[in-house]
Amino acid sequence: LKKIGAFAVNSEMQNAFNELSKVCEKLIDAGYEKNINIDCSLVNDMNYYNGIAFKGFVHGVPASVLSGGRYDKLMDRVNKKAGAIGFAVYLDTLERPVGEKNSEKTIINVALPKGRLGEKVYAMFEAAGFECPSIKETNRKLIFENEELGLRFFWVKPSDVSIYVERGAADIGVVGKDTLLEEGRRVHEVLDLGFGKCRMCVCGPASAKELLKHHEMIRVASKYPSIAKDYFYNVKHQTVDIIKLNGSVELGPIVKLSDVIVDIVETGSTLRENGLEVLEEICPLSARMIVNQVSMQMETERIRELIHKLKGR
Ligand code: PRP
Repeated sequence: LKKIGAFAVNSEMQNAFNELSKVCEKLIDAGYEKNINIDCSLVNDMNYYNGIAFKGFVHGVPASVLSGGRYDKLMDRVNKKAGAIGFAVYLDTLERPVGEKNSEKTIINVALPKGRLGEKVYAMFEAAGFECPSIKETNRKLIFENEELGLRFFWVKPSDVSIYVERGAADIGVVGKDTLLEEGRRVHEVLDLGFGKCRMCVCGPASAKELLKHHEMIRVASKYPSIAKDYFYNVKHQTVDIIKLNGSVELGPIVKLSDVIVDIVETGSTLRENGLEVLEEICPLSARMIVNQVSMQMETERIRELIHKLKGR
């Protein structure tokens, strides 16, 4: 834990860390150091579980098939002074065909967002030694493979990348942080690629500044209703009427459909040309690499190596 720079924010977390450290020491003593993969995203409901929580995965099923942990607190609630540990197996997920892991190297599938961002991402893979020359051929093919490296790239619509990764059709993908925040998909966000930088902002005419101060009900137009809702309800504690739009959001305040908008600002020129400005900044955004939750467990070493090389490109 020291090695990964983790720290506890409260005593309960400190206890969990201590317990985890003990488990790790035992595993290291038994020669399993290479098999330890501390995944903080797997923290289950800690009001229910205490100490250890775990998940189980099998090849070919894109989500966990088993989940459990230690739940002494539950025993406490039913007045039983006893420790308890258990897990549930999701039989419905196991009913789907389970892929066999053969001894050959499995293919890592990478979903690239079609367009300029995707081309930049591919160039990054290439620079890190994960090339696939056939991808540069000019045709309408969508899928390209480098058998030797065990890598397959495919072009998908940018807004579909995260669903391919969540469902396990792709092991790895690249999406904007805006999509991740809006969709809340069950994927691991593993790397900030540092490009496609922009900001999620509340924008509107200068006169709308006052409306944001008084916590009165305002109308907010956005392509990102979840982000807008989360910001106004949970950060600003302001009641809002959210109007979902699919594009040209800047029009909202101009034609009085809304008071303000929540949208991406990159250069700021769309705002300027429409007489609007940034009123509040919600968060910075950039392109992120995401990994399927099961792939991260099953192909840990290869995926870690890939991340490491991409970081060092
Ligand atoms: C995005 C965003 C803004 C604009 C910001 O729109 O929704 O409108 O880019 O960029 P800027 O600050 O550099 O002007 P997009 O181009 O995706 O089109 P859309 O409005 O139709 O969604």
